[in-house]
Amino acid sequence: MTSQVVDRVGHPPAGVREDSGGFDLSAPDGTRYRVDLGTGVLDPDNPLLAGYLGERRVVAFVSPTVDRLYGDRLRACLDTHVRPGQWSLHVIPTGEHHKTLAAAERVCALAKADGLDRHGVMLAVGGGIVADVIGFAASIYARGIRYIKVNTTLVGQVDVGVGVKTGVNALRTKNMFGAYHPAHASLNDPAFLATLPHREIRCGLAEIVKMAVILDEDLFRALERHPDAFRRRDGDSGDAPHSHGELETYILRTSMRLMMEELCPNLQEHELARLVDFGHTFSPVVETAGDHRLEHGEAVAVDMALSAHLARLLGLADGETCDRVVRLLRRIGLPVFDPGTCTPELMTQALRASWQRRGRKLHLVVPTGIGKAAFVEELEDVPAGVLTAALEALAADGGRHDA
Ligand SMILES: NC(=O)c1ccc[n+]([C@@H]2O[C@H](COP(=O)([O-])OP(=O)(O)OC[C@H]3O[C@@H](n4cnc5c(N)ncnc54)[C@H](O)[C@@H]3O)[C@@H](O)[C@H]2O)c1
Ligand SMILES: [Zn+2]
Repeated sequence: MTSQVVDRVGHPPAGVREDSGGFDLSAPDGTRYRVDLGTGVLDPDNPLLAGYLGERRVVAFVSPTVDRLYGDRLRACLDTHVRPGQWSLHVIPTGEHHKTLAAAERVCALAKADGLDRHGVMLAVGGGIVADVIGFAASIYARGIRYIKVNTTLVGQVDVGVGVKTGVNALRTKNMFGAYHPAHASLNDPAFLATLPHREIRCGLAEIVKMAVILDEDLFRALERHPDAFRRRDGDSGDAPHSHGELETYILRTSMRLMMEELCPNLQEHELARLVDFGHTFSPVVETAGDHRLEHGEAVAVDMALSAHLARLLGLADGETCDRVVRLLRRIGLPVFDPGTCTPELMTQALRASWQRRGRKLHLVVPTGIGKAAFVEELEDVPAGVLTAALEALAADGGRHDA
């Protein structure tokens, strides 16, 4: 640390630095934040959270499930680190339809009633929904106050927890209102994942497969060897699943680092061509037109499989690459086809909507190998016949029972 290069105003060079306890990000625009990764973050004798709370007043928020599983531990932790009368805890409803402006306003009202001023801190303990709502509330409360997120889901740890985005759904659009508001701290404890339902684990794995396909063949191979990562058990004795074995730590660390490195030069998304959008072109329509029957990660899996077939049919990837992507998703237990929404009409609409959103360029990310990807830039580059052929191939994949 002592010999680190610094610029004239004392900032370290832009980039992501990894150490045994997490990552420090320093963006070219001067934004700096840390993401911690370690176990026991709610243990009363763990100084990490206490260090971030300092002497501040704390208003904490959790979902009902997290309250049931971790509420007692959290209360004991706050009791240890925060003076009596200086902290409060509220349970807020979760689910996409509760991620609203009204929810953020209610959070602000609760904070105000508890006497939170601009020196205080909001604490979000939970998945992406709680983090997004509290982060957004913190970004507008008294023109922006500190918030800390303790991420308890796999999506929370590899995606929400490493970036600076907050938001709520509005005007029938996901994350319509939001802010780029870096957290004061982001704490990620893999031990939380032991209680996460398998469907939520699979959704997190979809985002991890995404990072592996576009950037890291070793990570992809690790997932091929262990498609049951985060769900493995020590024996058949009913032990808790492995959430922080060596393999899981490697997977978590690698995907967090890759994600942070991708976000770092483009924190506020001024550049609209983003590799991390792999799996995020068709998926919004799969999610919304399907009335959220599929979860986000599942829709991302369908999108990745479709994009892999497009890459194959456009001659950008070989058949083996496409097969490996689709096979891995299936072995993890993720869907690769959704008959209700994977129609030529809806998927053409999805392409057009992405094209609009991304400044009239398609910026469709497709794999060109495992660990490599490219952009398809123009709408005309995806002819209707190719899209239909890709969907037919996908339907065949989806109907196979060899996973
Ligand atoms: N801000 C960002 O950069 C960003 C990135 C990705 C996703 N998101 C958003 O995150 C949301 C999805 O987040 P999510 O996937 O974490 O889902 P979620 O927040 O809905 O959590 C899923 C469920 O798991 C429960 N839960 C949380 N931790 C648990 C644990 N340890 N054990 C058992 N149950 C637990 C929750 O109470 C909830 O019922 C979406 O709204 C998405 O838009 C935001
Ligand atoms: Zn996503």
